Amino acid sequence: MKIIPHFSLKSLNTFGIDTHAEAFVSVESIDELKTALSQKDYTQKFLLGGGSNMLLTQPIPGLCIHINIKGIQLIEETDGEVIVEAMAGENWHDFVQWTLDNNFGGLENLSLIPGNVGTAVIQNIGAYGVELKDVFHTCETVEIQGGNERLFQREDVHFGYRDSVFKREEKGRFVITKLRVRLTKTNHKLSIDYGDIKPALGEKKITPKTIAEAVIGIRKSKLPDPKVLGNSGSFFKNPVVSSLHAETLSMQYPNLPSYRFGVCLTKIPAGWLIEKCGLKGHREGDAGVHKKQALVLVNYGNATGEEILSLAQKVKKNVLEKFKIPLEFEVNIY
Ligand code: EPU
Repeated sequence: MKIIPHFSLKSLNTFGIDTHAEAFVSVESIDELKTALSQKDYTQKFLLGGGSNMLLTQPIPGLCIHINIKGIQLIEETDGEVIVEAMAGENWHDFVQWTLDNNFGGLENLSLIPGNVGTAVIQNIGAYGVELKDVFHTCETVEIQGGNERLFQREDVHFGYRDSVFKREEKGRFVITKLRVRLTKTNHKLSIDYGDIKPALGEKKITPKTIAEAVIGIRKSKLPDPKVLGNSGSFFKNPVVSSLHAETLSMQYPNLPSYRFGVCLTKIPAGWLIEKCGLKGHREGDAGVHKKQALVLVNYGNATGEEILSLAQKVKKNVLEKFKIPLEFEVNIY
């Protein structure tokens, strides 16, 4: 474990923002993580996972700790189910592939989501009708102040839409080190009702693997590959508005896509709202709104974090003025 001063973070954030950390260390075990957290020379500690859900608008002061703890193992097995454990530094998609290679069901709809296992918990990643919370068993953490270990049960995590206790009450207090998920060996609970999935499956037999292939195909056709075009996936959350507001809007826009969200609430795709503001494909310098999916902002090369943020604020302002709907950022801004 080596602490490196003035370290470039360009290759460690999927937006490809060229900024640096005052100091950087990559930790490969829980013991190394505890040692890094106890470094007294740096009062500020910044935890970095896959760098896929953040926008860096300034250099990071203090010590940036890159969670690079690897390992996947089967913990428990019954006739129909398994509990699998993945360490926080595993790449999320590699983990999903591992489960599919072992014929376990549950994570197929979450294929190809960028980022790492640890951060997947923080924002309760979701796609095509499935969220991480649906398979979550437990997660283990280390407290940033003091280095104590704490296990979180499902009910402790208070999962919501792209939300958990780690984004709210416990924000900045814990580092997630391990995730355990409960997956199926037989009688898989397959989710194929989300719009694009059935057509992508065609005549194929419906299995976790074929669903994963369909999801991968859809994502590749709409969402930019961060290795090719810097981005952090959805920049905005899909807003939840009163159903009355949604009904009023749908009188004006009969094609408004919307989904019931609990009692009296409706979720509207931010991508649709942004597109209707005429901003899909809009570009300001190297910062842009993606051409195929308007809720994704992209870095065409050398955009700074501030430039992307300023575009994001412009998008928010336009949507608020046109639809009276305040958009919320899904990515974390630093
Ligand atoms: N739409 C538009 N224009 C656009 C984008 C979308 O009109 O530019 C419309 C589509 O036609 C469709 C609706 O909006 O009617 C929904 O679009 P899509 O299926 O692409 O999903 P989304 O609601 O825009 C959410 C997640 C994605 C996830 C997909 C699939 C959020 C913030 N985003 O997007 O998650 O992959 O559903 O489940 O909830 C991510 O979090 O990084 C991410 C990509």
